[in-house]
Amino acid sequence: MENVKDTIANLPKDDGWNAGYPLYHYQGFWCSPNFIEDIILSQEGFKAEPTDIFVCSAPKSGSTWLKALTFAIVTRTRYDTSTSPLLRKVSHDCIPTLSNSGKKLDICEPGLPLISTQTPYHALPKSILNSDCKVVYICREPKDAFNHLSLEKAFVLFCEGKSFYGPYLDHVLGFWKASQEKPQKVLFLNYEEMMKDTEPYVKKLAEFMGYPISREEGEVGAVQEIVRLCSFENPSNLDVNKTGVKQQTKAKVENNFYFRKGKVGDWKNYLTTEMEERLDKLMDQTFAGTGN
Ligand code: A3P
Repeated sequence: MENVKDTIANLPKDDGWNAGYPLYHYQGFWCSPNFIEDIILSQEGFKAEPTDIFVCSAPKSGSTWLKALTFAIVTRTRYDTSTSPLLRKVSHDCIPTLSNSGKKLDICEPGLPLISTQTPYHALPKSILNSDCKVVYICREPKDAFNHLSLEKAFVLFCEGKSFYGPYLDHVLGFWKASQEKPQKVLFLNYEEMMKDTEPYVKKLAEFMGYPISREEGEVGAVQEIVRLCSFENPSNLDVNKTGVKQQTKAKVENNFYFRKGKVGDWKNYLTTEMEERLDKLMDQTFAGTGN
């Protein structure tokens, strides 16, 4: 453990946008030290099971929603829409987070195959990359995927790649490439597409994860129920998500932080034309030759 702390202390460091929470550069991405510690230990010790399903994302790109959808899909025979834990807890508290010892937090439902992580694809433990487990990933329009607090500073740092688990575009590209190389293993989803019409993606996710929606379930509206249970209006209006607090490793995060507006293209209300052009250029450079 001391060795890990020493390793982190010697990494390149940046103050980041949030005073008091510096970011360190590890294996090509930026992150806070406590998360890097977890990543190093999980790279050394985590053993994936072929039945595991990893719910992956970068921050601000729809993680809360994807966790809710995957949880609702795999637990739909255990709970109905009036008993789901998603009515009492933020989805981050329904799915354990990847750590060196396996499933972190004591929230794990028996037999729940889901584990969440924001680690970039290339830095996932080898046993995840090499086993038959599944990976689902959600990406989002980069202009909507950075923090709105201290916007100008957060924007510049985001473009420089100095955001949580950033560069964001590399994060997206890593999972996108993996989804092209191993389509049976990695499902790549897009926030904007899913917001346009969620139902086909619930079916796709269910099928991909090995929990396909049967014809009988389809006939009684199971897909629509999952969409409704997880749609922005539902969780964002629950008391637990208006006033509850989640204990992160170091800091406390108010649950309402995860439910800002949930609007596609809200960046148009915040970014200047120069900012838009700068990010478009970066996207062109990063995704050149990928057809995206
Ligand atoms: P905005 O900041 O545009 O409102 P993450 O969960 O990865 O941190 O992403 C947060 C973004 O997802 C926020 O976007 C938040 O409003 C949106 N979000 C949270 N829950 C959602 C849901 N159930 N459906 C759609 N978007 C959701």
